[in-house]
Amino acid sequence: MSDLITLTIDGRPVQAAPGTSILRAALDSGIYIPHLCDHPDLEPVGICRLCLVEIEGRRPTVSCKTPVEEGLVVRTSSADLDLIRKVNLELLIVNHDYNCQSCVKNSKCQLQKVTSYVGVDEKSLRRVRKPELDHPLDTSNPFFTRDMNKCVLCGICVRTCDEIQGDGCIDFAFRGTRTKISVLGDKPILESACVSCGECVARCPVGALVPVKFEEPAYEVETVCPYCGCGCGIIVGARGGRVVSSRAVPGNQVNRGSLCVKGRFGLGYVNHPGRLTALLIRKDGELVEAAWDEALALVAEKLNSYKGDQFAAIASAKCTSEDSYVIQKFARAVMGTNNIDHCARL
Ligand code: FES
Repeated sequence: MSDLITLTIDGRPVQAAPGTSILRAALDSGIYIPHLCDHPDLEPVGICRLCLVEIEGRRPTVSCKTPVEEGLVVRTSSADLDLIRKVNLELLIVNHDYNCQSCVKNSKCQLQKVTSYVGVDEKSLRRVRKPELDHPLDTSNPFFTRDMNKCVLCGICVRTCDEIQGDGCIDFAFRGTRTKISVLGDKPILESACVSCGECVARCPVGALVPVKFEEPAYEVETVCPYCGCGCGIIVGARGGRVVSSRAVPGNQVNRGSLCVKGRFGLGYVNHPGRLTALLIRKDGELVEAAWDEALALVAEKLNSYKGDQFAAIASAKCTSEDSYVIQKFARAVMGTNNIDHCARL
């Protein structure tokens, strides 16, 4: 017997696991319901009120917070729903920056999708629009920019920082029409407890949080992060032989769709002109390229001239646990010293 629950959405039979929200059940079945504050990685909060649906025998309800039930009959669109959504959307975007063409999120923006589905009335927007966008850009962080003129107060960044990163460095601040997402003391984000992981940037549905450096990749390749020994799954974007982007593999068993600052923003070294791409040894005072055999023979010869604590081993966090074990064994048993360190202890 199937554990799935069957309901009807817009006349179509839909099946979903118990506990699934009506919104997710609809989206998974290819039925679009406008939404901005819902994200599959986060607990639903029902802030934006765009995902309203009608359920037979009940009042309109937000579908992101309503779990599926056997036999429910759901409508995603009606004259009443469309009107409520339109008003809700207008309130959300009344002071939104219109400059979509130059926005990094252009064509990937959830707000554009919602707006084209719901439709907005330019005239009614203009009536209540502030004469000027007045939030200064926060460019303090070297990896991402915050533009509160594009924020729709969905709270996805706040919940991401709290639920996923466990940092809790941003929250809703001020009240009423002055509400915005801010850090403690409304300072630049670099002066907060933010660890620049970029998890909020990856989930922001609009252009409020965007990477400082962004180029649309020509193609993407799934691989493993080259930094520490964790082995996080990343999807690297390339263009013209250069690495231009990095994002987490959704659902990867190691990192579960998350990345740290290095894996997300730190792959610039791959194409850096100063990067060493060949072995170098010093000959007659000059660094010259060498083959592995020659370089290893030189190192082995030189190790003979160090005794005990004249020697120290420093291991890389890119090493596996097994590599690190061998390095400490070599230092202790062969070189006779406890001078061992590892950058991953920082
Ligand atoms: Fe349901 Fe925002 S997606 S209220």
